[in-house]
Amino acid sequence: MTTLVTGATGNTGRHVVAELIGRGEHVRALTRNPAAAAEKLPSGVELVHGTHTAPETLDAALDGVDRLHITVTAGLADVGPELVRRAVDAGVRRITVLWGGAAGPVEQAVADSGVEWVRLEPQEFMSNTLTWADTIRAEGVVREPYDFPSALVHEADIGAVAALALLDDGHSGQVYNLTGSESLTPTERIKTLSRAIGRDITLVPITYEEAVERLTSSGVSRADAEYVVGWYAEPPADAVTAVDTVERLTGRPARTFDQWVAEHADRFVG
Ligand SMILES: NC(=O)c1ccc[n+]([C@@H]2O[C@H](COP(=O)([O-])OP(=O)(O)OC[C@H]3O[C@@H](n4cnc5c(N)ncnc54)[C@H](OP(=O)(O)O)[C@@H]3O)[C@@H](O)[C@H]2O)c1
Repeated sequence: MTTLVTGATGNTGRHVVAELIGRGEHVRALTRNPAAAAEKLPSGVELVHGTHTAPETLDAALDGVDRLHITVTAGLADVGPELVRRAVDAGVRRITVLWGGAAGPVEQAVADSGVEWVRLEPQEFMSNTLTWADTIRAEGVVREPYDFPSALVHEADIGAVAALALLDDGHSGQVYNLTGSESLTPTERIKTLSRAIGRDITLVPITYEEAVERLTSSGVSRADAEYVVGWYAEPPADAVTAVDTVERLTGRPARTFDQWVAEHADRFVG
């Protein structure tokens, strides 16, 4: 059985790949840069050059594939339904889709595909904390406009749920809201980081506009930047409420933020 993973080198995709490999599956990873992907992914993964945002080029990548994991990324909304159609035509029998933060055309195309499907709706990733790494290393500060809680989920737990949804029966048609086991404010996360790296870290408030400009100056469109900062200003109820989906499905507690920090502490030092 072959599983094609799109977004395989990303924050969550690499965990999807690792979980599938760990269960003895043959994994084909779609990447725009196979040389870089080889550094990030375990040996044994078949690397295929391509991008899911050009589905008309993916017939070879889809050849012989039974299961498909789609990571919704920028640029996929328009062409995602075509990717789903080609996958089904190629014989894919089960699809998992990691949502883009809202159920859009790709997520709908998967639900309408006629094959088995599961939608993963993680809330905020713990890896968003990496956006603090530069200023913590340089100045010992974090600049954020809001201090509201978020039930952050560990990317490895998203990978674990994706793998079982791809490989095990009984999940078809499910929409899984995924969070960690606790809801934490930036202040609480900073305390954990501070303990782990042995350095005081100060939370410095910035305005909504400064937060939007920070994103636009890094290449994010104004509309996307306003969406992201607006999300933090008024996080949806699902994002602040910890649920037990990970534990219920995997049979073990969701990974904690302390654990994530222990795994990534070196990124905040130096
Ligand atoms: N961050 C959060 O808190 C959060 C929460 C919920 C949902 N989400 C959603 O999760 C999705 C991202 O997941 P992720 O963080 O695991 O992915 P990611 O780290 O952003 O990586 C996505 C991967 O997709 C591949 N890719 C192929 N075509 C691409 C394209 N046109 N543009 C960008 N990447 C492309 C890239 O691999 P190659 O370079 O190897 O080709 C890249 O490594 C987004 O849709 C986001 O909205 C995020």
